[in-house]
Amino acid sequence: MWWLLRKGRTMTCLLFTQSLLLTSNAHSYSYISKPSRSFHNHIHYPNLSSAFLHPIASSAIFAFSSKPGSESRTGSLKSMQNPESISYLTQREAAEIDEALMGPLGFSVDQLMELAGLSVAAAITEVYKPSEHNRVLAICGPGNNGGDGLVAARHLHHFGYKPAICYPKRTPKALYDGLVTQLESLSVPFISVEDLPLDLSEGFDIIVDAMFGFSYHGFPRPPFDGLIQMLISLRNYDQTRQKSPVIVSVDIPSGWHVEEGDVGGEGIKPDMLVSLTAPKLCAKKFSGPHHFLGGRFVPPVIAEKYKLRLPPYPGTSMCVRIGKPPKIDVSALRENYISPEFLEEEVGSDPIDQFRKWFEEAVGAGLREPNAMALSTAGKNGNVSSRMVLLKGFDENGFVWYTNYESRKARELSENPHASLLFYWDGLNRQVRVEGSVQKVPDKESEQYFHGRPRGSQIGAIVSNQSTVVPGRNVLYELYKELEEKYSDGSVIPKPKHWGGYRLKPELFEFWQGQKSRLHDRLRYSPEESNGKRAWKIDRLAP
Ligand SMILES: Cc1cc2nc3c(=O)[nH]c(=O)nc-3n(C[C@H](O)[C@H](O)[C@H](O)COP(=O)(O)O)c2cc1C
Repeated sequence: MWWLLRKGRTMTCLLFTQSLLLTSNAHSYSYISKPSRSFHNHIHYPNLSSAFLHPIASSAIFAFSSKPGSESRTGSLKSMQNPESISYLTQREAAEIDEALMGPLGFSVDQLMELAGLSVAAAITEVYKPSEHNRVLAICGPGNNGGDGLVAARHLHHFGYKPAICYPKRTPKALYDGLVTQLESLSVPFISVEDLPLDLSEGFDIIVDAMFGFSYHGFPRPPFDGLIQMLISLRNYDQTRQKSPVIVSVDIPSGWHVEEGDVGGEGIKPDMLVSLTAPKLCAKKFSGPHHFLGGRFVPPVIAEKYKLRLPPYPGTSMCVRIGKPPKIDVSALRENYISPEFLEEEVGSDPIDQFRKWFEEAVGAGLREPNAMALSTAGKNGNVSSRMVLLKGFDENGFVWYTNYESRKARELSENPHASLLFYWDGLNRQVRVEGSVQKVPDKESEQYFHGRPRGSQIGAIVSNQSTVVPGRNVLYELYKELEEKYSDGSVIPKPKHWGGYRLKPELFEFWQGQKSRLHDRLRYSPEESNGKRAWKIDRLAP
């Protein structure tokens, strides 16, 4: 078992392997369970606790800094695409960070495991959609790395995947018992090593390698040696056949040296590596297409202490890609949409009601800017142009957006009032097309909307002669500063004449719902006269 004990991330460092073996296997984990006194006694952390207790003012660790004046987010992301500019941790540093998180920084192992497992599941969903990679096998080791795998499997279940677990050496502790119970309550099957199909590619689309964490050395013992071998042979299989499951390694590809990587060159070659907290040195040797960072819990004081340079996490995401995304064959990019059927008998007779329903569902689904729409216009020469604008209101009178009345779109609309709007709601596999003629909204309405905007946007609208050539960004900035100063007393900013709203009065709607095998639903609403009254005719169009 000694090699297993050393594999866990909790193992503070190689130097302490011996002493750990003499204490307990509680330390064989990725993040340590609360370190025992004796454990502490073996470790020399120069000024570590004082650094944590007296956080240094945030400085140049831009990855964790969102302060004005720090490197911009885009700048950070750009430089972070170069894996060379990212911090990689030695085994010792990784262990020290775990120890600090679990000590002076007040985290519990359960919390870190939950966040790590969630990060792994989130990274998987970024690349492998459940519609195409549904069947997951999580192979879990006895330590915290295995715990991460159990947590990831639970989240994957909730994300729509079908996980199964191979967990041959269960750890008899409440934390792990709880994770097993949670999975059992979801009817996630546990498969013994003996019951695994000899050829994993037959039963699974994704294999989560959560066997061993970050202090592995030596030779894996049964059954993990055999399991690792099965994953290695998937690669050989891949060379002879079309499709084999992808391998996702949690923090360290099992069997790799934490700092040296795949020393003999014959180890697991994962397709995805999800580094936790920060990548370990072995991750430099990872050559698969998808390297992600997870474990969004590193406080600035740790980043400061270890001079960590890591990419910022986007929005509320639990993971972030490290390095460049792989080269993509654009022609091979396709989604198989799976949606509820969209039938004539279920839609509203009034397209505005139907639009409202879908719009509310887009908002409810938490989609980003569900009111963003592509507006297409064509001037008198017939050339068409499209751009995104934001819907600012809709009702039976039409769809409203605001813009500059001297912009290209405005010129084209003055020449030809016919336009088309297109909404695309990705997460719901939906698009809505609205076509009609456009008019300016009454000035009073524009006036009212203008004054409800943030003052910065009001000034921006005055400053920008939209669609004209500008000699440089600084010109706009100078003008903006001038006006900001001018209106710094809080006085009313007058709406410029060249700014206002447009309203498109719909003459045609098309609601599109993506379906399997390209058999999409398309329902078109077009106006017709019925008993002298204007009504909407609904037709199904071929996809
Ligand atoms: C998501 C999104 C929303 C936008 N919303 C507006 C808007 O509401 N009004 C606007 O004038 N420009 C908006 N823009 C900028 C336009 O796409 C476009 O660059 C600008 O209106 C100039 O277009 P034009 O030169 O074709 O007239 C938006 C851009 C994006 C990406």
